[in-house]
Amino acid sequence: MRKPIVAGNWKMNKTVEEALLLVEGIKRELAECREVDVVLCPPFTAIKAVSDAISGTHIDLGAQNMHWESSGAFTGEISPPMLRELFCHYVILGHSERRQHFHETDEVVNRKTHAALAANMRPIVCVGETLDQREADQTHAVVETQVRQSLAGLETRQLIETIVAYEPVWAIGTGRTATPEQAQEVHALIRSVLREMSDEAVSDSVRIQYGGSVKASNARELFGQPDIDGGLIGGASLDAASFAAIVKSGM
Ligand code: 13P
Repeated sequence: MRKPIVAGNWKMNKTVEEALLLVEGIKRELAECREVDVVLCPPFTAIKAVSDAISGTHIDLGAQNMHWESSGAFTGEISPPMLRELFCHYVILGHSERRQHFHETDEVVNRKTHAALAANMRPIVCVGETLDQREADQTHAVVETQVRQSLAGLETRQLIETIVAYEPVWAIGTGRTATPEQAQEVHALIRSVLREMSDEAVSDSVRIQYGGSVKASNARELFGQPDIDGGLIGGASLDAASFAAIVKSGM
């Protein structure tokens, strides 16, 4: 039985002061939540404050990106040990906004995935097709390639720690959610690719999140699909009540 996992990707939002206000609201609703793994992914500047604020709760911390090297001459980058030091246990990798605006390739995502696991962090590896690709009937091919290349070379125990997030690019921030059937179809495909890459026991235990315009009003139906194990939430994670309602939809 896979435990659902709902993560809030705050993207480039929230100053430290705003982050702490949001966390207080989320704590009121979810500090004791045990049925769903709850992860907050603030911007780097708010990670320390959020880490302190959630200490002692069941809420966990994630970053939105990181470099694959531990240290060195990489101006502007943040390394796995730097995040671990702040009790960051998860990291979002290969988000479509990073692929699109910062030219991250599957090869880069793969390096980062290995680095996260080597640092004892759980990677949340994002995949998903653009609208053009969907309309050209390329969804399966695109997603399969992203999964195979981003997760290449992982050992069984590492695959089990990895979370895959299916985020159709056309559904991100657009209000245009994939239907539960559309999402389930791709989630099932991802699970079958994982089975081919490893075995059935592994593919049955890897959690696959859906992301893209998830709201309190559509979360329950999405999370109710057999291969959807929670969500990666953007806009609706910036409000404590709506994020909490989404998390509770996974219970
Ligand atoms: P929205 O929930 O705002 O569509 O964003 C989804 C997302 O990109 C989460 O990583």
